Amino acid sequence: MKALFLNQYGDIGNTSLEEIPVPTPAPAEALVRVAAASVNPLDVKLLSGIYQTPFPLTLPYVIGIDFSGTIEETGSLISGWKKGDQVIGRFEPAPGLGREYSRTGAIAEYVAIPARQLAPAPAQHPLIHGAALPTAAGTAWQALFEFGNLRANQTVLIHAAAGGVGHFAVQLAKLAGAHVVATASEHKHSLVRGLGADEVIDYQKKDFSDSLQGVDLVLDTIGGDTQLRSYKVLRQNGILAAITAPPDQEVAKQYQVSASRVGHTSDGSRLGLISSLVESNKLRIVVDSIFPLAESQEALKRTASSHASGKVIISM
Ligand SMILES: NC(=O)c1ccc[n+]([C@@H]2O[C@H](COP(=O)([O-])OP(=O)(O)OC[C@H]3O[C@@H](n4cnc5c(N)ncnc54)[C@H](OP(=O)(O)O)[C@@H]3O)[C@@H](O)[C@H]2O)c1
Repeated sequence: MKALFLNQYGDIGNTSLEEIPVPTPAPAEALVRVAAASVNPLDVKLLSGIYQTPFPLTLPYVIGIDFSGTIEETGSLISGWKKGDQVIGRFEPAPGLGREYSRTGAIAEYVAIPARQLAPAPAQHPLIHGAALPTAAGTAWQALFEFGNLRANQTVLIHAAAGGVGHFAVQLAKLAGAHVVATASEHKHSLVRGLGADEVIDYQKKDFSDSLQGVDLVLDTIGGDTQLRSYKVLRQNGILAAITAPPDQEVAKQYQVSASRVGHTSDGSRLGLISSLVESNKLRIVVDSIFPLAESQEALKRTASSHASGKVIISM
């Protein structure tokens, strides 16, 4: 089987497709024939080496976090899954086990992964699109509902609303009955409105903090100056859910809001709920682009541009 290895920290050019044996699943794992992987900004950050402290990797390392595919074999302790089941799943970036295993990453033709990190792929939808869901939709869900406690009739501001996380967040917030304000560059406004945003602000032409106030929750997907200006729009006791830079607690105190960094944790049951929303056509997967495995570096470059609309997918 082929897998995309990172051989040395640095840039996307340091990755290469290599042939390795198909892994053997451990007793609590499933072996999945991968249909597609999706690319996340985390893949690009991991390979650059800037995340070595939170995510120490053993190189060479198979890149990729999210995938969809078909179960080929189940470990002896697995019940509830069988050969032929279509699944989606997510790896936690973790120290690698060396070149002969592909357990560490999703951009591979086969993966062996703990079964608790799997969920059913949305039926009646292209299996390769399911790879878009785990990290992006899971993070949106976690930030909006598990951290942000978003409820009907509240106002939420979602930054980078056309991006991987943002496009799911807009739809999930709307499904929850919230009033959704979003930021995106102008040519993406029709996409973001189509996903359910009530108001869309062109962040390149207008400072959102000039016109907004009384917001209950901000989903900050950008950090830096965007995060600093986000405090200003929150109501007293409002919530800033940041998924990039950790918020400064002194600033949060000054604005009398609560602010934290939300870090994604894989959860097969949350992922199952998300998958069922796609299956019932309540949640749409926006696909920016699909690359063949041989062009994985181009897929990584597209995500590294920070201008994707929806998700970048690598089809095996
Ligand atoms: N904490 C976690 O667990 C976690 C999980 C997932 C993601 N993340 C992080 O969250 C960030 C977003 O992830 P993602 O997957 O959504 O990224 P993405 O898909 O690459 O986001 C791309 C989008 O960002 C928009 N954008 C870029 N700069 C912007 C700005 N200043 N204001 C508003 N929109 C802007 C782009 O729109 P335009 O083309 O219009 O500029 C584009 O549509 C990344 O840094 C990622 O590493 C963290």
